[in-house]
This record gives sequence, structure tokens and C-alpha cells, in this order.
Amino acid sequence: MGLDSLKSLRRKMDRTSWTFRSLFAPETAKELHNLASHFALFCDEQVARIWGTKWHDWLQEQDLRVSLFTFPSGEGFKTRKGKEILEDELFSKGFGRDSCCIALGGGITMDLVGFLAATFCRGVPLVFAPTTLLGMVDACMGGKNGVNCSFGKNLIGSFYPPALIFLDLEMLTTLEDRAWLEGLSEVIKYALIAAPDLFALLQTQTLATLKKKEILQKMIERSLTIKHAIVMRDPEERLGERRILNFGHTIAHALEVESAYTLSHGAALYLGMRVESLISQEMGMLSQKARSDIDALLSRFAIDISHSPDQAKVKRAFSRDKKAIHERPRFVLLQQIGKAAPCQGAYCTHVPEEIIENALKTCL
Ligand SMILES: NC(=O)c1ccc[n+]([C@@H]2O[C@H](COP(=O)([O-])OP(=O)(O)OC[C@H]3O[C@@H](n4cnc5c(N)ncnc54)[C@H](O)[C@@H]3O)[C@@H](O)[C@H]2O)c1
Repeated sequence: MGLDSLKSLRRKMDRTSWTFRSLFAPETAKELHNLASHFALFCDEQVARIWGTKWHDWLQEQDLRVSLFTFPSGEGFKTRKGKEILEDELFSKGFGRDSCCIALGGGITMDLVGFLAATFCRGVPLVFAPTTLLGMVDACMGGKNGVNCSFGKNLIGSFYPPALIFLDLEMLTTLEDRAWLEGLSEVIKYALIAAPDLFALLQTQTLATLKKKEILQKMIERSLTIKHAIVMRDPEERLGERRILNFGHTIAHALEVESAYTLSHGAALYLGMRVESLISQEMGMLSQKARSDIDALLSRFAIDISHSPDQAKVKRAFSRDKKAIHERPRFVLLQQIGKAAPCQGAYCTHVPEEIIENALKTCL
């Protein structure tokens, strides 16, 4: 990316604003009116049933020219083919350059629709309305989007930040507890890489107390602020610092691929953080006390996982991780709770094979 495009990406990211507000508030419709004249509202079939149709009908009542596009939920549709199907539907319904794409849903919907908006007619305005905790604390921010292919997860995509992010906490009331825990995995990641205060807060909470509006909003705001600050310093992962957002993810992405995506992103991250915290300790970077505090916090918000991974397949998958060099994986490691290890500015490092194997055997 040239210097001008980098500056423009940074400007767009800086302008990305998030608002805690009901999707059904008149201000929401007003802000949308200012963006475009023709709206495509995308959601997966489950979200469509619960919220999508209702919001679509309400937007029409607010005089927005809007059509609803739905697709099956799950990673299976987050592919080049899935994107093409939606693009063809847009063209066949007369959408063009004056359109705006709205993603109502979890991280999968935002990744897919974000990539679609980035290339549709060479780029149209994009709006995110996340409906999962994971979507609110992480996937809506940072401008990265993309699709999976047979070679791995999120390997094809772009940087394309949304113009607006609407955070309506009411959306989360229909989530199952497991989806809450999956979102909490990303919050714990933020605590581990950048926020000892968030770690301390989580240590005193239960899932039930975290669902209360005041604390929930504080937790989402804190996570988004951390991510926003990191991506502003390193919008396209050039300097290395943005890599710290990848803590737990070398293993997580490999587990998702190994399980053929039967393991969700949040559940895979939960396991990935266990493995990578142990690696951090075994590499002599993280104290034993810090590692056991991390384990205790993860157990506090444990995700029940029945899948038992094939370790040889996991290793094959992480050798294709984007941080790998000559198929040798590199890991983001922790120095202490709330601080990723800089590793000479690369924010990731190679780890001897026996340490990786031991951590996989112990934690998976
Ligand atoms: N681009 C990024 O920066 C970024 C960051 C983190 C994760 N991600 C991506 O996000 C994806 C995971 O996101 P996710 O966990 O939100 O998954 P998801 O989008 O599949 O949503 C999880 C499930 O919850 C359902 N659902 C969503 N909202 C609901 C609601 N309000 N009530 C009831 N059910 C609801 C969906 O239908 C789906 O079945 C992964 O593909 C991951 O790679 C991207």
C-alpha cells in the first residue's frame, strides 16, 4: 500500500465512530439517510428471524429505500462463492454506486459484507450493526474483513473501515450463554495484551453480572478503545504492533481449520489463549503466577468443548499462519498480564517445536 493510501486508510479509521444507541431510534435512520439513497441490509438467516426482518420493516417505515439479503449462518458461507452470490443478487435488484451495505449480525456477517462493500462498484459506504458480543468488542473495529478459502481462514480480504457502527445492547438479549462466553474470549484477550484494569475487573465478575448494562457498556467501550488505538498506530499491520491483536489466534485459527469450522472462533480462541499463555511461560517471558492467574480467569468463563483436535492437523494448519516464515509459525507472547512481549519490535517470535508440542499436549 502506498503512503497516500495508508494516510487515507488512517483517516477513515480515525473517523470511524461508534454509538451506543437503539437501532430503532430516529437518529439511526437519520444518520443512514445521510450516507446513500439505496440500502442493502445483510444478515444471516438466524439474525433475520430474530431482528433482521423487524429492523428492515422499521427502516422502510422511516422512508429508507432498503432491501433485505439473507444467507445461511456459519463460516461455510464466508467464502468467495458466498460473496459472489450476494453481489449477483445486488446487481439483479438494481443496486449500484449509490448504495450502502449494512451488516447486521456477528463477525461472520461483518467480515463478509465488509469485503463485499469494499469491492462492490469499487467501494460503497459500509455500516456495521453488530448483534454478538464478539462482534461488538472486536470484529466491528479495525477495518479488516475477508473470506475463508480451502487454504485457511480470512486469507482473502481487504482493509475497509465502516462509516458508522451502531451498538444496540438490546441485540445481545437474544444470545445464548455460549455466544456470550465466545465474545468474552476476545475481551479477555484485550485484558491480556493491553489492559490489566480490565483483567482485574473480569476477575470480580460472573457472566450474569457482566450482562448488566452499565458494566457491559464499559467492557465493550474499553475493548473498542484499545483496538482503535492499536489500529490507528499500525492500520495495516506494517509495523508489527497490530500483531498483538493476534494473541491466541495462531492456535485458534489452526483449530478452526482443523475442526472444519465446527469449533467457533470464540471457542478456538479460548483454547488458543490457554496454549499461548503456557508457551509464554515456557519461553521464560511470563511468570508462573501470571500464567496461573490467566488460567483461573479463563476457567471462570470456561467454554465447554467436546472436540478433541488432531494435533498433527493443527500443526499443519498453523504452519500456514500469516505470521509464519518458511512455514515456521511465530507466536504473539505475553510478558505480563496486560502487556504483549515486543520481541524486538516484531511482536511475535519463533518457538522451539518441543515447547509448542508440550503446550498442545497439556492444554488441548
Ligand atoms: N474482522 C475482524 O477484525 C474480526 C475480529 C474477530 C473475529 N472476526 C471473525 O468473526 C467471526 C466470529 O464472529 P461471531 O462469533 O460473532 O460469529 P457469527 O457471526 O457466526 O455469530 C454467531 C452465531 O450467533 C447467531 N447470532 C448472531 N447474533 C445473534 C443474536 N443477537 N441473537 C441470537 N443469535 C445471534 C448467528 O446467527 C450465528 O449463528 C469469525 O469468522 C472471526 O474470524 C473478525
